[in-house]
Amino acid sequence: MRKTLIAGNWKMNGSTEMVENLINGVVEGSKKLLKVSTAVCPPYVYIPMVTAATKGSAVGVGSQNISTQASGAFTGEISTSMVKDFGCQYSIIGHSERRTLYGETNEVVAEKFKVVKEAGLIPIFCIGETLEERESNVTEDVLMKQLDAVFAVNGDNAYADCVIAYEPVWAIGTGKTASPEQAQDAHAFIRQHIAKINADNAAAVQILYGGSMNPGNAENLLAQEDIDGGLIGGASLKTEDFMAICQAGE
Ligand code: PGA
Repeated sequence: MRKTLIAGNWKMNGSTEMVENLINGVVEGSKKLLKVSTAVCPPYVYIPMVTAATKGSAVGVGSQNISTQASGAFTGEISTSMVKDFGCQYSIIGHSERRTLYGETNEVVAEKFKVVKEAGLIPIFCIGETLEERESNVTEDVLMKQLDAVFAVNGDNAYADCVIAYEPVWAIGTGKTASPEQAQDAHAFIRQHIAKINADNAAAVQILYGGSMNPGNAENLLAQEDIDGGLIGGASLKTEDFMAICQAGE
């Protein structure tokens, strides 16, 4: 049985005051959860604050991005060993905002996947199609290319100890959610595609849905067979909303 994971992607939001309130609320709220596990991905500078607050709790912490380099003259970059040093277990990679705004290609994302795995961190690997791609009926093709780029660099066992987030670009931050059926179809496709190479990994990998998930739509999405949790942006910034989504998965 795959465990449900609800992860918050705080993106570039927060202040010390806001982060303190939010993380304390999430730590408290998570104590009431029996089945669902939680994680939060704060901006880098708040990671030490957040891991101090989550210490001894079941709440996981991740970075939102990572450098492909280990150390050295890479101004502005942060390495896997640094985020590990501060207690992170996860790193989001390949988020559509990184792909579209910062030019991260499938190949760059596959390299990031590699360094994250090598460091013993769990990648939260984001994939998904744009509206144009959906309307041109190439969604499966796009997902396949994104998945295969990671196989090419990381081998047949790539999707062991990994989390995938299916995030249709048109649903991110737009208030438009994929219907439970649309999301289930994409998740099932992702799992079947991985199964062609590695059936065990396909059965075990947690596939999260992301894109305007909120307390109102979470239950129906999380009820789908191949949806194993959520990657939550906007609604993860309010403790009540984030915890309500977690409760919907219980
Ligand atoms: P959203 O963002 O929940 O605000 O749509 C999700 C994400 O980008 O991970």
